[in-house]
Amino acid sequence: MKKLMKGGRFTPECYSAEIEDKIQRYRKLGYKLPPRRVIRTPEQIEGIRKSAVINTGLLDCVAANIREGISTAEIDKLVYEYTMDHGAIPAPLNYEGYPKSVCVSINEVVCHGIPSEKEFLRSGDIVNVDVSTILDGYFSDASRMFMIGEVIPDRKKLVEVTKECLEIGIKAAQPWARLGDVGAAIQEHAEKNGFSVVRDLCGHGVGIEFHEPPNVEHFGRKGTGTMILPGMTFTIEPMINMGSYDVFIDSKDGWTVLTEDGLPSAQWEKMLLITETGNEILTY
Ligand code: MF3
Ligand code: CO
Repeated sequence: MKKLMKGGRFTPECYSAEIEDKIQRYRKLGYKLPPRRVIRTPEQIEGIRKSAVINTGLLDCVAANIREGISTAEIDKLVYEYTMDHGAIPAPLNYEGYPKSVCVSINEVVCHGIPSEKEFLRSGDIVNVDVSTILDGYFSDASRMFMIGEVIPDRKKLVEVTKECLEIGIKAAQPWARLGDVGAAIQEHAEKNGFSVVRDLCGHGVGIEFHEPPNVEHFGRKGTGTMILPGMTFTIEPMINMGSYDVFIDSKDGWTVLTEDGLPSAQWEKMLLITETGNEILTY
């Protein structure tokens, strides 16, 4: 479907002549480059930034309220109300038929857990809360893990290593590097710690749409994949499993992604802006 551009046209003036030349050189050499439309204009960056500020405030609000005994439906209500109170819209709500404002994924749920009145957080749970915000048409996205009450060391380690995977991935996401560099760095760290990287879900461009090119895989080979260019905004959101990387979708709701072996999974997600000299983290 053709979408109207928000915030002006993508003109070469977005880049300095020097950067434009460099891109054309790489293009001629046959490097895979992202589509033009995912390179943000300064105006778009400003809009995405504002959306991201609300998304981060929202996760802070979840962090202040999440506790043993809370139902996942209560977390959903909190997310809906905070977002609306800030003049924004929860991006998940009605997204491709998704029924709630947030994804809450407990233990062996990898992602896309649907909040429910019948589901309560218990001591020992590791929980991912994934929130996404639309403000004035601009999208932001992030998730964090929460450990409820007393969590066994194995699970704690999974949560911590997954966070490190995200941080290592962010370091690798440099202008003129390749997306395969990001995936390879994450995969190496996860596997070194005896964990596995989920293959079937990935990070993504985000900003003007909820999910845009490119796909950001959390495994791969250095020096391969799409080139990372200044002006891109995308997520890195590794899902790391304690056991095997195989997952399946719950046929009852068509959304919940679970580990095949029933062992726990963890995920952390941040959204980046690639700059001319490095990157800037937009969501926390
Ligand atoms: N927030 C998820 C992501 O990181 C997407 C959730 S789609 C939904 O990309 F419909 F389940 F909300
Ligand atoms: Co995302």
